[in-house]
Amino acid sequence: MTAGGANGRHSLPFLHHASRAVCPEAATLICAFRATIRAVPHYFDREPAAPSRPRQVPLRLPDLSLSLASDAGVFGHGRVDSGTLFLLRRAPAPPAEGDLLDLGTGYGPIAVTLGLRSPRARVWGVDVNQRALELTARNAATAGAANVITAAPDDVPAGMRFAAIYSNPPVRVGLRMLHPLLTEWLDRLDDGAAAHLVVHRHLGSDSLARWLGAEGFSVERMASHDGFRILRVQARQAVGDDR
Ligand SMILES: C[S@@+](CC[C@H](N)C(=O)[O-])C[C@H]1O[C@@H](n2cnc3c(N)ncnc32)[C@H](O)[C@@H]1O
Repeated sequence: MTAGGANGRHSLPFLHHASRAVCPEAATLICAFRATIRAVPHYFDREPAAPSRPRQVPLRLPDLSLSLASDAGVFGHGRVDSGTLFLLRRAPAPPAEGDLLDLGTGYGPIAVTLGLRSPRARVWGVDVNQRALELTARNAATAGAANVITAAPDDVPAGMRFAAIYSNPPVRVGLRMLHPLLTEWLDRLDDGAAAHLVVHRHLGSDSLARWLGAEGFSVERMASHDGFRILRVQARQAVGDDR
């Protein structure tokens, strides 16, 4: 589902009530459509239903070259996503120390790269997808990135603050889930720290940048290529924040 699809999701209840009034068959069809959408497997399912189909993926960057394990049911199966590659090539180097976050780690191309680029930092690869977390842990171990920790969102200590966030965020979850997800984690940036998010313009990068700006974050498009944008988002100062 695209960002546009998320808007479609918002419009369904209205359509459902309107159609029930004029045409009960249309309401039945909409119910069937909703059930189908719920049944479709997603890369952000907690326990992917897709049978395992392991594939090694080469990740080539100017400073390192890795072979990463990927699998069905996990984002980017069999290839490194073009947006992820762009982020890893163009975003600034991570801070040398502190806690760094890869929000939505998948099989770990971002987390493992951060871990190798900043060996004295601690990198949190966070995901809801259990198969993704297992792959990231395995890829970090194989690459010798012992400073990568994998965790489900609720397992990250509540008081944890991050020196930087790098993410190819899960825009396909829909705006209703994406917006609170982003504010929750962006509000865990240290003062003065920044997040770098890669989002394609067809998946709503520009409206996302405007929305983040309206929420009080300072947002800058730091790079753009083939429709992908890297948004640099700075920690916002909460009113009365005495952190
Ligand atoms: C676009 S993929 C990026 C994966 C990986 N970082 C990469 O670049 O290949 C987004 C990831 O976010 C994860 N995700 C979805 N909802 C999430 C949530 N609420 N909290 C953390 N991660 C989530 C998905 O499971 C998916 O692995």
